[in-house]
Amino acid sequence: MKMISLLGCMVFMGVAGLVMAQDAAAPATATYLGADKCKMCHSKQHATWTKMKHFKAIESLTAEEQKNPECVKCHVTGYGEASGFVSMEKTPNLANVQCEACHGAGSLHMKAPMADKKKTINGKGRDCRDCHSPHVDVNRAKTEEKKEAAK
Ligand code: HEC
Ligand code: HEC
Ligand code: HEC
Ligand code: HEC
Repeated sequence: MKMISLLGCMVFMGVAGLVMAQDAAAPATATYLGADKCKMCHSKQHATWTKMKHFKAIESLTAEEQKNPECVKCHVTGYGEASGFVSMEKTPNLANVQCEACHGAGSLHMKAPMADKKKTINGKGRDCRDCHSPHVDVNRAKTEEKKEAAK
């Protein structure tokens, strides 16, 4: 009887050890939450953001353009990433250039204890220059289209 419970205990410890080893081996990646979640704790930053064009960036695209990856990639949040924007039907909450476009996906930051708040959010988002460049006419396609239409 003693032998069996000892064996059971060892098996249990083995499984627990494996689970823990897996957790340590694969650090969780943060997922996108959408700006509503950030608002709870950062209402001030949320308020200033809603006054920017980033807040409405998707509205600059026509319904057709909103389906074009060549347009949406800079007008939404986390395009091309596992938990980022997919389409207006599937992920309407990630349309527009939101907090996480600049600050990075926020799930780990949101759950983190106070001492880890800073290190779970900074420097993981996109740089301004990933979307803004003085040397690239980001709206060239649209401009060309307009010129074509005007002919
Ligand atoms: C549960 C509350 C909470 C939520 C939700 C939350 N944050 Fe924070 N965040 C904090 C706190 C608290 C700090 C300040 C940490 C400090 O000063 O040490 C912070 C700091 C930050 C900072 C500044 C980091 C720095 O280095 O100064 C950024 C950027 C940030 N949060 C972005 C976000 C974004 C984006 C979201 C939504 C995805 C979000 N936060 C959601 C509590 C939260
Ligand atoms: C994910 C892409 C993306 C990133 C990253 C990004 N922007 Fe933008 N930004 C846009 C788009 C798209 C618009 C235009 C929105 C519209 O008019 O539809 C814009 C507009 C702006 C405007 C016009 C503002 C207004 O409200 O009148 C400013 C200024 C700006 N961005 C500054 C910045 C700065 C500074 C950074 C970095 C801290 C940054 N952007 C990061 C995509 C981005
Ligand atoms: C490389 C990132 C990027 C891509 C790709 C991109 N945009 Fe933008 N878009 C921006 C930025 C940044 C702004 C704001 C600053 C500016 O106008 O240069 C903006 C602003 C706009 C605006 C508002 C300003 C205006 O000129 O009226 C429209 C409309 C627009 N984009 C449409 C499009 C369309 C349509 C596409 C796809 C053909 C597209 N964008 C692709 C980054 C991008
Ligand atoms: C266009 C890019 C961009 C967007 C969108 C954006 N931020 Fe920021 N945020 C910044 C930059 C740049 C800083 C300044 C970083 C620094 O000082 O090092 C900053 C600073 C902060 C800080 C630190 C305190 C402060 O006010 O300086 C917090 C908290 C924060 N942002 C939260 C948010 C939240 C929440 C949202 C969405 C509601 C958001 N940000 C949207 C670029 C952005």
